[in-house]
Amino acid sequence: MVISVLTDNMPGTRTEAEHGLSYLIEFEGKKLLFDTGQSNLFLKNAEIMSVDTTNIDMIILSHGHFDHGDGLPYLSGGKLLCHPECFVKRYRKVDHTYIGLINTQDELEEKFELITSSAPFYISEKIVFLGEIPRLTDFESKHTSFIFEDGSPDFVMDDSAVAMILDRGLFIITGCGHAGIVNTLEHARIVTETKKLYGIMGGFHLKAADRQTEETIRYLKESGITYVYPSHCTDEPALSLFYKSFPSIPVKTGDIFNF
Ligand SMILES: [Fe+2]
Repeated sequence: MVISVLTDNMPGTRTEAEHGLSYLIEFEGKKLLFDTGQSNLFLKNAEIMSVDTTNIDMIILSHGHFDHGDGLPYLSGGKLLCHPECFVKRYRKVDHTYIGLINTQDELEEKFELITSSAPFYISEKIVFLGEIPRLTDFESKHTSFIFEDGSPDFVMDDSAVAMILDRGLFIITGCGHAGIVNTLEHARIVTETKKLYGIMGGFHLKAADRQTEETIRYLKESGITYVYPSHCTDEPALSLFYKSFPSIPVKTGDIFNF
C-alpha cells in the first residue's frame, strides 16, 4: 500500500501546506483520493511529487468540512463517496463563521457520480469506507465547537474513515477523527471482523494532553499497533505525547509512505 500526502498542515521541503488533508491511497490495484484539502493545493503538490492523480477509482470525503472537501471544485467526473449528512450547513459556535462545504449536494451530483452511505461500504474486498461511526467511549466526542444553522450542536455525525485490510492487520485513514479515534478503530474492527491493528494515519482531533489523548494512547499501546501517524488537526501538546509514546514521525506534504 502506498499513501501519498498531497495536503496536510505541515509543509515538506518542496511542497506547501494548508490547514487540510488530502491523501492518495494506492492499494490492491485501486487508486483512492481520500479528501481534497481546502483548495487546489493537493493538485499542485501532486505535480511536484510526480504523483498521477488521473484515473482515480473513487474520491472519498471523510466528512463535510471545508478543509477536507473544498478541493472538490478542482475535480470533475468519477465516483464520490461520503456520508449523506456531509452537505448540511454548519458553523463554528464561537463566531458563527461557516465551516461546511462550499459546494451543495446538487452541485456535486452534477459533477460526480455521488454515492452516499451511512452504513459501511466495501470499495473492494479489502477496502471499506466505515460509514457512520458509533460514539461508544465515554471520553470521545462528548463536546463540540460546531453548530447547525438553527444553533443546535453539530457533533459531525458524518465523520468517517477508510479501513484497508492488510495481511498484517488493519490500516485506518482518518480525516479529522471527530468520531474519536478509539470509536473509529473499534468500529473498523467490528465491520471488518479483524482484530489486529497495523496502522493509523490522519487527523486525530486531539488538542491537549488531557484524558482523551491519554486514553487514546493507552488503547493504541494495548492494541499492539505498529504505525501511529497523527497529523492535520492533532495539536501540540497532544502531538508531543504521541511522539513520546510511538516511533512516529511528523507527516508532511510530499511524504510518500510504503506499507
Ligand atoms: Fe479537518
